[in-house]
Amino acid sequence: MQDLRDKYIAAIGEASDEAGLEALRLAAVGKKGEISLKMRELGKMTPEERQIAGPALNALKDEINAALAAKKAALADAALNERLKAEWLDVTLPVRTQRQGSIHPVSQVTEEVTAIFADMGFAVAEGPQVDSDWYNFDALNIPGHHPARAEMDTFYMHRAEGDNRPPHVLRTHTSPVQIRHMEANGAPCRIIAPGRVYRADYDQTHTPMFHQVEGLAIDKDISMANLKWVLEEFFSAFFEIDGIKTRFRASHFPFTEPSAEVDIQCSWEGGQLKIGEGDGWLEVLGSGMVHPKVLRAAGVNPDEWQGFAFGMGIDRIAMLKYGIPDLRAFFASDLRWLRHYGFASLDVPTLHGGLSR
Ligand code: PHE
Repeated sequence: MQDLRDKYIAAIGEASDEAGLEALRLAAVGKKGEISLKMRELGKMTPEERQIAGPALNALKDEINAALAAKKAALADAALNERLKAEWLDVTLPVRTQRQGSIHPVSQVTEEVTAIFADMGFAVAEGPQVDSDWYNFDALNIPGHHPARAEMDTFYMHRAEGDNRPPHVLRTHTSPVQIRHMEANGAPCRIIAPGRVYRADYDQTHTPMFHQVEGLAIDKDISMANLKWVLEEFFSAFFEIDGIKTRFRASHFPFTEPSAEVDIQCSWEGGQLKIGEGDGWLEVLGSGMVHPKVLRAAGVNPDEWQGFAFGMGIDRIAMLKYGIPDLRAFFASDLRWLRHYGFASLDVPTLHGGLSR
């Protein structure tokens, strides 16, 4: 018994992994293990012999089991220590200065716009990019025969013959979000809706997919004066220039009455565009007071509620702010362009931290 003990205690001490340990357990105290077989021999002994051998074998079995358990715990500890040594990470290292990727100007400017309007109490609303022609046109007071449908160079979704669901389009503007938001939430409301829009158009300043941000503010007594204040406040914050002047030019949109196109002050001196100075003007958005028919289509009573809406090109104001000449390059995925015009991923625009680098 002493030999058995010494043999197994030494072997357990030397075991270097769990599999080896398990093999030893089976050899010693498993069903056919040496110690288990010895215990079976107890039956053949005289009662006197058994009285000595029985407790001694039980003690030996306990000792071996305890040694196995202790070694198992020690192996697990060692494995954990090994891992901790191999997988450490110095979290106090400074971040890499070399940018691995960059934030696209459209994403960055969308964040900037959102931060500014959020500060004025506007929430962000969203709508689908594939929408029914009712949301994109009819509800916005653009009936079937209206020239605006053709003017917008609409992409229509394919419909199989016999499919009589309403026609769907790639939305040509973010204005359908006005309808969807009022339908779901009623009045009063104050939202912006940034997102992708689509028109069949392609040149230096037009791409078939581009981005707009819609604005909508509905309450009991909202007027064009509020619209003007909100937009001037926005442009000053966005271009980081105090007191940018705006010019409202009478215009026409089926979904607003009255309607105005809005220009911002700029100069072209020396062939260089500068925002917020000089006596030139640059068109940046369409706007107006929401047409009573639009309110009604969205389930809002126009005798009780009124407000303004505007739609602005995000890519357009990104080009102006960051001096990017060609819109098509925005969507060409040219790495050199992205590295040049992209933003560091940690430069999250906030009003208190600064909007741009
Ligand atoms: N939806 C118009 C466009 O895409 C812009 C607009 C929005 C005009 C809201 C007035 C009010 O051109």
